[in-house]
Amino acid sequence: MAYISCENLCFSYDDGQVINNIALNIEKGECVGILGANGAGKSTLMQIFTGLNRGFSGSVSIDGTALGRKSIKEIRKKLGYVFQDFDAQLFMPTAYEDVCFGLESMSLTADEIHARADRIFGALGIDKLKNKYTHRMSGGEKKLVSLAGVLVMEPECILLDEPTVGLDPKNRANIINIIRSLDITKIIATHDLDMALEICERVIIMNKGTITAQGRAQDILLDREIMEKNDLALPICAQNMADLKK
Ligand SMILES: Nc1ncnc2c1ncn2[C@@H]1O[C@H](COP(=O)(O)OP(=O)(O)OP(=O)(O)O)[C@@H](O)[C@H]1O
Ligand SMILES: [Mg+2]
Repeated sequence: MAYISCENLCFSYDDGQVINNIALNIEKGECVGILGANGAGKSTLMQIFTGLNRGFSGSVSIDGTALGRKSIKEIRKKLGYVFQDFDAQLFMPTAYEDVCFGLESMSLTADEIHARADRIFGALGIDKLKNKYTHRMSGGEKKLVSLAGVLVMEPECILLDEPTVGLDPKNRANIINIIRSLDITKIIATHDLDMALEICERVIIMNKGTITAQGRAQDILLDREIMEKNDLALPICAQNMADLKK
């Protein structure tokens, strides 16, 4: 049984339909990239899975449970979502308080909370951000602290919305290594096609609210026709290879 599964999934905002009859299965432990031009519906789809966009039609099931009003609380515990818009994620005064916040709703002692928070700051290499005010951090710093706040909850599935946007090359490489090392189900919406090629086993291409292609990452991402038909381009590494062949 798939870990995340949806059928006939449709969703509209007030001004129109943005998810159009999607059927999809994501297996436990898979690392799946969701790609598509701006406005294709990637963030909307992730926010349906995480219960943030209600009022969809069709069915969604997570780990064998149908997503609905009654099940949402239990399902939320299993999923971690890192927002594309990090300002929507951070709300405590300091980075350390923000990362501890979610843990405080679990039955852990203060020592356990601090041990888990310290471990995640260390793993992400962001110890120096601990006491920074979240509203005074740079975009990349906010992205890293948002990720820390989600990973510290030890979710069994993580949905990452543009995880590498705004990160400098060293932090980007670090985050890619961390994502790769996570032994959980991973769904990554991204325009960073080189990262998708590097770490996703499978990619799904969305175009105007529908899935137009899916398959092994290298089969899809290196297929110029598929990528261009969906208003995308080859990953930079593949463009360079094509240039070298000229
Ligand atoms: N809160 C909202 N209210 C109304 N329309 C919205 C809302 N959020 C997104 N949309 C619209 O839904 C469509 C899909 O948006 P979504 O954010 O899911 O796209 P995306 O694929 O994540 O794009 P991007 O690559 O720019 O992040 C867009 O046309 C967008 O304008
Ligand atoms: Mg988006």
